[in-house]
Amino acid sequence: MSPQLYFATCPRGLEALLVDELREIGASALRPVPGGVGFEGDLATSYRANLHSRLATRVLMQLARAPYRNEQDVYDAAYGVPWQRWFAVERRIRVDVTAIRSPLRSLEFITLRVKDAVCDRFRAECGRRPDVDTRSPDVRIAAFLDAQQVTLYLDTSGEPLYKRGYRTERGEAPLKENLAAGILALTGWDRKEPLFDPMCGSGTFVIEAAMMAMRIAPGARRRFGFERLLAHDTKLWSGLREAALATQEPPRALPIFGADVSGRELRYAHENLKAIALDASIELRKADVLEVAPPARFGVMVVNPPYGVRLAGEQVLADFYPRLGDALKNRFAGWRCYIFSADPELPKRIRLKATRRTPLFNGPLECRLYEYRVIAGSMRRPAREQGDAAS
Ligand SMILES: C[S@@+](CC[C@H](N)C(=O)[O-])C[C@H]1O[C@@H](n2cnc3c(N)ncnc32)[C@H](O)[C@@H]1O
Repeated sequence: MSPQLYFATCPRGLEALLVDELREIGASALRPVPGGVGFEGDLATSYRANLHSRLATRVLMQLARAPYRNEQDVYDAAYGVPWQRWFAVERRIRVDVTAIRSPLRSLEFITLRVKDAVCDRFRAECGRRPDVDTRSPDVRIAAFLDAQQVTLYLDTSGEPLYKRGYRTERGEAPLKENLAAGILALTGWDRKEPLFDPMCGSGTFVIEAAMMAMRIAPGARRRFGFERLLAHDTKLWSGLREAALATQEPPRALPIFGADVSGRELRYAHENLKAIALDASIELRKADVLEVAPPARFGVMVVNPPYGVRLAGEQVLADFYPRLGDALKNRFAGWRCYIFSADPELPKRIRLKATRRTPLFNGPLECRLYEYRVIAGSMRRPAREQGDAAS
């Protein structure tokens, strides 16, 4: 049997890290493209990718790929898939179409045509068609159109993988869990050294970090789309899930710390930590980042400050960044500090010299991860350097 093709989607900027992660999971023929990684594997590989990937958003199983010129070609490609072999007619479906450089104008119309093709094929094979449920479908079908080819997938994940199944409270502007995990990977944090998020909000960074440190599989507590497919192998899946739960380390205090100025956000963080039984492992405190004392002599700071458009006014941030720069320089010597922001004003206003800048996307929003290695007394940039913005 030829190996099954898959495509794992991820936030743009994390593709290379996702290649490493999928290789470790046992995937082969890894092909990164902007927004994801194609790979080959068997059923167990796809289960492991869903269970263990901290970076992927979805794992899609490729069912067909065909050239197209018009909507009818897309319909024909979708009609050509024996959907009735993949899922039962009782399953409620949803179709999602994405396109890059497609000559076809209406994605909505293509979505409708793919849905029609699936239903028509079912009617021809079983005399009945599946219902559509866009809010909580059992089975998600994805179509991707580039300039010449349409590719049809079944989504093996269901709900996106950044939903780890523990989040009870959302907070003001939480990061997606897989983006937070990717940022942690980019910092090079070794899972043992102290980690501090002084603007932790609902706790996404500290929770992802604790899950990494304690080897908690991100998917061990949730359901997946593949459970609704006819090919689902319950025994294989429960074996993999149990093996993952068995390697999880027992709860212990971790050198991972969160702080926030908002009591409400800290309550959210605490609720989330409790839901995943990590509330005794991580220390949270109420503090202003401009005054907070470092929780250890050295370590990794990772922070996602409020961004003007979403949380605060422009002038407030203009005043805040230089003071944040001062706080890092004066109190965090010995720390590697990483600031994740979409704000192009940050690098010049903070008045520290970034040692690395990594472009990343938060959905459609272009962001940067700035690295500042804080060494006592040597961080301030000379005035003439301060105008250079993010590159
Ligand atoms: C963009 S949110 C961080 C979201 C967080 N990464 C998450 O995933 O939930 C920014 C956070 O900074 C906090 N904040 C704003 N000003 C602060 C300050 N001066 N000191 C500490 N925290 C502050 C806000 O309360 C908010 O929770």
